[in-house]
Amino acid sequence: MASHFKMRPGLFRAALPLITAAFALSTALPTLAQTSKSTASDAPWWKHAVVYEIYPRSYQDSNGDGVGDLNGITQRMGYIEHLGVDAIWIAPMYPSPQVDFGYDISDYESVDPQYGTVADMEKLIAAGKEHHVRVLLDMVLNHTSDKHQWFIDAASSRNNPKHNWYVWNDGINANAPGVTAYQKRFEHEGKVPPNNWVSGFGGSAWEWVPSVHQFYYHMFYKQQPDLNWRNPEVEKACFDAMRFWLDKGVAGFRLDAIPTLFEDPQLRNNPEKGGINAQGDPNLSDEYVSNLPEVHDVIRRMRSMVEKYPGNRVLIGETYLPNTAELDKWYGGTAQNELQLPMDMLLGFHGDHDKLDVSGFRDHITEALTQTHGGQPLFVFDNHDNVRAINRYGDVDPAHAGLINKALDTVLFTLPATALTYYGEELGMVTTTPTRKEDVKDPIGITGWPKEKGRDGERTPMQWTPGPQAGFSTNPHTWLPLAPDYKTVNVEVESKEPNSQLEWFKKLTMLRRENPALHSGKLTMLDTASTSVLSYVRSTGSDSVVVAINFTAQPQTISLDVKSGKAHTLATTDPSLTSTSSTKNLTLPPYTSWVASVQ
Ligand code: GLC
Repeated sequence: MASHFKMRPGLFRAALPLITAAFALSTALPTLAQTSKSTASDAPWWKHAVVYEIYPRSYQDSNGDGVGDLNGITQRMGYIEHLGVDAIWIAPMYPSPQVDFGYDISDYESVDPQYGTVADMEKLIAAGKEHHVRVLLDMVLNHTSDKHQWFIDAASSRNNPKHNWYVWNDGINANAPGVTAYQKRFEHEGKVPPNNWVSGFGGSAWEWVPSVHQFYYHMFYKQQPDLNWRNPEVEKACFDAMRFWLDKGVAGFRLDAIPTLFEDPQLRNNPEKGGINAQGDPNLSDEYVSNLPEVHDVIRRMRSMVEKYPGNRVLIGETYLPNTAELDKWYGGTAQNELQLPMDMLLGFHGDHDKLDVSGFRDHITEALTQTHGGQPLFVFDNHDNVRAINRYGDVDPAHAGLINKALDTVLFTLPATALTYYGEELGMVTTTPTRKEDVKDPIGITGWPKEKGRDGERTPMQWTPGPQAGFSTNPHTWLPLAPDYKTVNVEVESKEPNSQLEWFKKLTMLRRENPALHSGKLTMLDTASTSVLSYVRSTGSDSVVVAINFTAQPQTISLDVKSGKAHTLATTDPSLTSTSSTKNLTLPPYTSWVASVQ
């Protein structure tokens, strides 16, 4: 595949042309009602929100089958509230054969029995309301499962009314001039796929169906046939599915793989980039299968549909894009009439050699804040598809991992941007990659082994306690094994340690809500020549807060020229700075964060 994910090792490591473009660059929290005084504004809720992604298989198992479920999430709503989270995004919980763990949906208007029922989802939404936590669902619109009735019908006959809901092609003669050896690997009845497109998950993107003597297109697994968005009936059916959940009170959606809805109608070959990827396929650009301009018409109509609902429902996009200019289009440019929150993947994901590059961060943050026609940035460092940031950004010394994770939290929560985080990040959970092929659950880790070991490592069960199965399940056969560090890295232990990852996370989300400058102050970069410390001030005029983060393994002494220079420390990851009272001549120990109000 070309460039859907940007930062996985192995398969997705091939897909990094964009790096250069992107980065040449226990105190309980107050409730929303309590905080509204200090931070009241007319801005829609999502503008200052912290959104927390939950992988439902891995969060909390309430019925002892070793797999997380909706009632499990409901039980943990109090915890989620006290993290300072405003909304959860739940990865797909719809009925699914689970080939791609829910991203292969067989019914958009129900819940997979292993996760619960529609009534359980209603209870979850109601519990969220009680705890001031909004619920966002994942909406997978690029493709369905091959077990969805729509596809079963579509594949039954060329004359079936659903046939044209998917992307079909008769193929070309295997002996036609220009047919490559690669295309010939997928020959059926003398026909080969019409072009060189490869699936992001391995093999040709075209799958033969004998009953109709045609190939269908699939960007992902062959069990995930792409919907044909050139057919208006598809849009209607998908919008109906979204309305089904909006009517039940969900606050919006995270739109899966949304740039990939359309393919080139001329089916032109994707340009070759040379070499082969972890799945053994040629490395291709995604020029003709992703980010086609047609998608924007759909998104504008979707935005108007969602806006008919009260309460500022929000559309978040999984938008891996090459640069900020492309991202701007997803907000709708000057019109701002598309996604409210297309994810900015350019800050947090740029390859398997992510590093704390001060100028890269500073330049990209500045660009994101100024080049999207007033769009609100949505920054993210972690999700269910990528090695966790604590591992990607780590340096040679494992002892630094925790501090680096805290430094990334500081960036995420103190910028004037919406923050998206992923379960376990608040604890410093690490990626636990399988060591034996026979243990791998994610199919791309099986087909790509050993170059691509799949995404299991970032999906291990949530670590609640030092007890059996880390409190995730009563069943010793959890669907993925627990990470070995769960006895020390877990909610119970970390809630009792003032310097834990968890307490740092909560301190920052609380400050973000309570402190007017961190809530809505404008950002000005400080000390812009520094290549070791990222620093900026957030200011409303009357309130100002300075943030300084040492991105290196050495102590750094800084002097920040801001207001009178008189400071009062609000939060720091190093006790030596707790009573620091000046922005001048201040030494930040390695990877230390310092947040202080200034006068
Ligand atoms: C998105 C999801 C990923 C899934 C893919 C196909 O990228 O985040 O988990 O495999 O889409 O639906």
